[in-house]
Amino acid sequence: PPRIAVLASGRGSNLQCLIDGIAAGQLEARIVGVFSDRPGARALDKVPAPSRWARSPKDFASREAFDEALGDAVAACNPDWIVCAGYMRILGAGFVERFSGRLVNIHPSLLPRHKGLHTHARAIEAGDTEHGASVHFVVPELDAGAVIAQARVPVLADDTPESLAARVLAVEHPLLLASVRLLATGRVTEQDGRIRLDGQSLFRPLRL
Ligand code: GAR
Repeated sequence: PPRIAVLASGRGSNLQCLIDGIAAGQLEARIVGVFSDRPGARALDKVPAPSRWARSPKDFASREAFDEALGDAVAACNPDWIVCAGYMRILGAGFVERFSGRLVNIHPSLLPRHKGLHTHARAIEAGDTEHGASVHFVVPELDAGAVIAQARVPVLADDTPESLAARVLAVEHPLLLASVRLLATGRVTEQDGRIRLDGQSLFRPLRL
């Protein structure tokens, strides 16, 4: 089965949904490693110790040095896909290019709206009536790669960033599982920034 490496900085609920999907037979894949920039990340506890790698960027002389160590650890487990699932540190161009075409991210907004941080507060602030999450290929420019699929939720009048985040998170899990399945089965491919489903170019992201 396809080998998946997961990068995560925090709670790891998106990682858990991949683990559960594999256990339930909804995704034929193997999680070969979990990699973190935060040695205390709860995501790490979801896999056995030999599959964990976590280092603090503070222990490295530069972003490039950290990215190289991370990249060497990722490469050592020979992944077919590298999934950023709540990985909160910007990946340098060197890392992105090293794993180009195999590196995807889940981002909590309807890209290209609200790249970067604090997406839920910004959606409320902007008066958006719809918000959601996107799974996209990673390119060196932040949150700018081709979008594979999105899931939408309404923004309600009394939403706080927390209530909106919870509604988005609930759709992130099935979105990520379905997107990784499309990649792992080879149904979705990317070339020159264009996404194809079953060989047909998509002109807008899939709605999952
Ligand atoms: C998720 O909402 C994910 O979309 C977001 O962090 C959360 C991680 O939750 N990612 C980003 O903001 C990336 N810039 P999890 O640790 O429970 O999967």
